[in-house]
Amino acid sequence: MHRMKSVTAFAPATIGNVAVGFDVLGHAIVGPGDRVTVTLTDSDGIEITDVSGVVSDLPTDPYDNTASRALLRMIEDNEIAQGISLSIDKGIPLGSGMGGSAASAVAAVVAANAVLGLDLDPLTLIGYALDGEALTSTARNADNVAPCMLGGLILSNMGTVGAELQCISIPVPDKLIAVVLHPNIEIQTRAARKILGDTVSLRSHVQQSAAHALLIAACYENNLDLIGSCLEDIVIEPQRKSLIPGFDDAKAAALDHGALGCSISGSGPAVFAWCRSADSQNIAAAMKQVFDERNGSSEFWVSPVNAPGACIV
Ligand code: HSE
Repeated sequence: MHRMKSVTAFAPATIGNVAVGFDVLGHAIVGPGDRVTVTLTDSDGIEITDVSGVVSDLPTDPYDNTASRALLRMIEDNEIAQGISLSIDKGIPLGSGMGGSAASAVAAVVAANAVLGLDLDPLTLIGYALDGEALTSTARNADNVAPCMLGGLILSNMGTVGAELQCISIPVPDKLIAVVLHPNIEIQTRAARKILGDTVSLRSHVQQSAAHALLIAACYENNLDLIGSCLEDIVIEPQRKSLIPGFDDAKAAALDHGALGCSISGSGPAVFAWCRSADSQNIAAAMKQVFDERNGSSEFWVSPVNAPGACIV
């Protein structure tokens, strides 16, 4: 029996929105992530042979699974007749707000690109991964997929029909740390998007867009104090925070312990704080205490904001 060629890729968890950049700003974190192994097979099409890790009940229909869905157009565009199978090892909990669907889609396209020898550029792969991510969202937002692929802090546009996808890597102060805390509850992104209002007042728009622009400028200027003054979401967080029991207290605890800012990671329930390295463990412990009292259990990660993106393992 000859061994079929296979490649495994790892893709990290990500923090979407970063408080003021709803759907357009995100960064990778070191620690949790998904692994996808793509193997060439003798049969036709794509099949999912194995799902393991912290999630085991994912859909296995190639059209309904984020990892395989990301490969469908990739295979069609590149006229691949070769059959492939996917083995998915989930390290990111489902409905956690830590970019789990994006990570599976990104790991799948990175592994497939390598095993099929396609040599496609990262922006093209992001486009395919967004096909998978779109299964869980209501828009083709790249705030998780782009940093998951590229690493670091990435500003993207929505990549809507007619608009060319842009992904810009924003320089991040070396000492900037993210604490990510995941309370043990599940929130589906679609549900967390449905509750959002369709309109934003002009006053809120001006305030939030100024904060977003200043955050990007502060990163370029390596100015942690300025980052701290603009990391406040006045548009999305007030509408979603009631989905996360203990959010206000956890945020207050993070800020009391020196966080530069604290908000919901993606669509939640994970919550993140940006901080200086010296404060990170105290912030994590304070937030965990709040969530553990409310939700029974939680876990946290402490990571540089400038974390690496997906890679072959
Ligand atoms: N920006 C998205 C949201 C993240 O907050 O709904 C999940 O795709």
